[in-house]
Amino acid sequence: MLAERNVDVPASEIRKIFNKIIGRTDVFDMTVGIPDFDTPEHIKEAAKKALDDGFTRYTHNAGYIDVREALAQKLKRDNNIEANPETELICTAGGMGALVLANMVIINPREEVIYPDPGFVSHYAHIKLAGGVPVPVQLKKEHRFGFLAEDIESKITSKTKMIVLNSPNNPTGGVISNMELKRIAELCIEKDLYVIADEAYEKFRYVEEDPLFIGSLPGMKERTVSIFSLSKTYAMTGWRIAVATGSSELIGAMTKLQEHIIAMPTSIAQKAAAAAAIGPQDCISEMLQTFRRRRDLITKGLNDIEGVELEPPGGAFYVFPDVSAYGIKSYDLVHKLLNETKVVTVHGTAFGKYGEGFLRLCYAVSTERINEALSRLDGYLPKLLH
Ligand SMILES: Cc1ncc(COP(=O)(O)O)c(C=O)c1O
Repeated sequence: MLAERNVDVPASEIRKIFNKIIGRTDVFDMTVGIPDFDTPEHIKEAAKKALDDGFTRYTHNAGYIDVREALAQKLKRDNNIEANPETELICTAGGMGALVLANMVIINPREEVIYPDPGFVSHYAHIKLAGGVPVPVQLKKEHRFGFLAEDIESKITSKTKMIVLNSPNNPTGGVISNMELKRIAELCIEKDLYVIADEAYEKFRYVEEDPLFIGSLPGMKERTVSIFSLSKTYAMTGWRIAVATGSSELIGAMTKLQEHIIAMPTSIAQKAAAAAAIGPQDCISEMLQTFRRRRDLITKGLNDIEGVELEPPGGAFYVFPDVSAYGIKSYDLVHKLLNETKVVTVHGTAFGKYGEGFLRLCYAVSTERINEALSRLDGYLPKLLH
């Protein structure tokens, strides 16, 4: 009896695995992408002060103007994006809030949206929610899971309306090179396409190249919604706060829609976001260093296991090893690993059909947990080959 869109929008496969192990203390959970750091103190203090100072009422639907001004400074400083805080910037309830709004204001029913596969599970769901047709483009291991303009181009039809980009990518850690990003921008201009740039892992990059943001390129602002979530960058996953930027037309439409959905993100989280944006940034470099060490540790450890293949990922805090040598569907392998080793991973197909043959492990966990998981995997996986 419920609406068809309930069938069209699948439940997250990651959550299904995660829910199986809730309350179990005997497992080594490498599933959900939650940084194991606490929100930095100065950000928490700003939230406490906001409460004490009475910032507890409805705000503008795009967020407090002083918060938007602070976030505009961050966009200029970190992302080379000029945004008028009055008209070109909106505070949303996490990156997720911005993704839903952006899909809703850009996509008409039956229009096609190109997105990366393997990719973040909700991208598919958001396209479906908007009535669009998701068109997956395979991220290939041989290209280190970068998104290539030529692969995108091969999927463009007269119905294509938008491309979703996510670099560094969840689940693969793949990074789009600057050269490729420029090619994608040219393609979007030539074919008159919109872009959602999901920059959730903007700060977690281990590649040499300086980051380039597609929303900063000439001719892209009017066709791009760039989404910068504070969830991972400042270890604020529970605060539900992000900033999205684009042309005043796009942001105006998103603001109007947000009014009817959640009105605005929590006033206190907004004030915390301003402190995060303009306060000290050393918390990010500390996290990055830690993640880099863990990335190196887990990459080496997994490659040392007979049958596993993995290139060091360029960003984010996930590894996406190739486990196809074991000849077992990745969904079944996840369950075998849970039962036999108590290491909890996610099957690659949770992120799209091209994820078959891979597993995702999140290394935003302690070194001890990584080491224990590695030793358990090493004790079990090679037996599957013999
Ligand atoms: C690629 C990507 N986009 C968006 C999100 C949503 O995060 P949030 O809504 O907390 O900003 C996530 C969370 O894991 C993600 O991995």
